[in-house]
Amino acid sequence: MNRISIWTASKIFFCIFISLTTSLFSVAQQQQPGFNPYQYEIKKQAEGSKGAVVTAHPLASEVGIRILKSGGNAVDAAIAVQLALAVVYPGAGNIGGGGFMVGYLQDGKKIAVDYRESAPAAAHRDMYIDKDGNALTEKSQNGHLASGIPGTVAGLFFSHRYAKLPFRDLIAPAILLAEKGFVITKSEASSLNRHRDAFIRYNTVVPVFVKETSWKEGDTLIQKDLANTLKRIRDKGAAGFYEGETANLIVAEMKRGNGIITNADLKNYKVRERIPVEFTYNGYTILSMPLPSSGGIILQQTLTMISGKNIAEKGFLSADAVQLVTETERRAYADRAEYLGDIDKVKVPVKQLVSKSYLEKRMADYQPDKAGNSSEIKAGIPTPESEETTHLSVVDQWGNAISVTTTLNGGYGSGTVVSGAGFLMNNEMDDFSIKPGVPNMYGALGNENNAIAAGKRMLSSMTPTIVLKNNQPYLVVGTPGGTTIPTSVLQTIMNVIDFNLSVSDAVNKPKFHHQWMPDEIFVEADFPDDTVSQLKKMGYKISKRGYIGRTEVIKITKSVSNKLLLEAVGDKRGDDDARAY
Ligand code: DON
Repeated sequence: MNRISIWTASKIFFCIFISLTTSLFSVAQQQQPGFNPYQYEIKKQAEGSKGAVVTAHPLASEVGIRILKSGGNAVDAAIAVQLALAVVYPGAGNIGGGGFMVGYLQDGKKIAVDYRESAPAAAHRDMYIDKDGNALTEKSQNGHLASGIPGTVAGLFFSHRYAKLPFRDLIAPAILLAEKGFVITKSEASSLNRHRDAFIRYNTVVPVFVKETSWKEGDTLIQKDLANTLKRIRDKGAAGFYEGETANLIVAEMKRGNGIITNADLKNYKVRERIPVEFTYNGYTILSMPLPSSGGIILQQTLTMISGKNIAEKGFLSADAVQLVTETERRAYADRAEYLGDIDKVKVPVKQLVSKSYLEKRMADYQPDKAGNSSEIKAGIPTPESEETTHLSVVDQWGNAISVTTTLNGGYGSGTVVSGAGFLMNNEMDDFSIKPGVPNMYGALGNENNAIAAGKRMLSSMTPTIVLKNNQPYLVVGTPGGTTIPTSVLQTIMNVIDFNLSVSDAVNKPKFHHQWMPDEIFVEADFPDDTVSQLKKMGYKISKRGYIGRTEVIKITKSVSNKLLLEAVGDKRGDDDARAY
């Protein structure tokens, strides 16, 4: 061999060596999520200047922050986090449910992606009413008949148009977490134990969530069937869920348990891109989710009714402030029950409901110091124009802000796991008004506009929200909590904007809730007694209840050196976790 050919041969050898080691390295990387799913900590607060992620689970937050660090944007991280949550937080994270994404993108584009479940073609108005006219809430809330057509996977692929990285990179961590397992937290262990009977009752094949002995903190949860489903989604795209083997497994599961979702239902599922609700409050611009969520409209109605009434001067959690907020909520939730529903299927007088003049009239009979009465305050337009969910907030270095709330509805949804596919189905059909006057599992009443119809989306309360200051993202906020969602988001926004609370206090201080019916104010256990007794004197019925929401917030400001300052806070009320860098 002459010198040239020795040089060429060594170059070739070097290239082969490099490419072999690189591919071996990336295979090795693909086999490990890059962090330890068998040992991790929950972080409640984080600060950074480049990116921040807050989710309901530390492993999901870690997945999100790693995606951001590897060059992904906020949408990439939001997709990867949702997939990771479907594995590590099975009570609410999902591929068998639906959700909403609200985003403010770096180029100023405002997005609202609706991947809410819809009613199967065979669904009909009276499907949960027996021959004697009784409402069958057991069927709308549990088991096979409770599920709407899942929207999450379609939503992830739809939102991927705003992402940067290949989808396979975003789903890889979820696949590994499902395949190799992760250790569960104390609260996950007790939650799985609490649901043991339901998992047995609502499944035809005993799912992986049922163990002979009780679950305990530190046990490893491995989900092989789910890993295989995620691989089909990785390899075939949305068709890996809505068609072929996964779809067949869903339909077979439905048939075994008298459910009604068919292959055609799955194949026909469509994401809707919508225009976010947008309005101003005290100089800030609020972007939130429009119908089929009631969240954005309730937020706009309540904040508009509150504005101009000096809430800040009344004082944080003062009886006067709580009373004002309660009275606006009474009116907004009365309207919700009467008018709101799937805007693609029914007429909703949205413009009128959020107009300033209408809302001023609505508050005309508001009396400070005196409790209103829900049986007197009905929906406001005289002649109409004819606990499990999860939130995640993400901000990246380019100024994209993403707010996502996604749900199975109740904890672990319908309780039914698609056998062979390893994921839980939602019980979202209960968010319809199954019979006029019969409250859903969150006590929400509904009417004709939210009655069941084939292909219709059930009304939601999910309120993924972004607050802009000077046209730049300032707060990314949202929470689970059924009908308490809009009122928790409302309080969190006011806590920062009006009461000047730190992000941590805005999230963690006691919350309260009113929703027209039942006519009472619900407060958390640590709500100030003094305020409770003053409100009682005004004529309010007050009930203590468990935690309200699990709010995830990122606040975006600039530091003195004009660098981005991201403050991320995960709610104290759960395993919620904040990361930033
Ligand atoms: O869409 C809705 O409004 C409900 N399905 C949300 C359920 C929920 O937030 C449960 N979380 N605790």
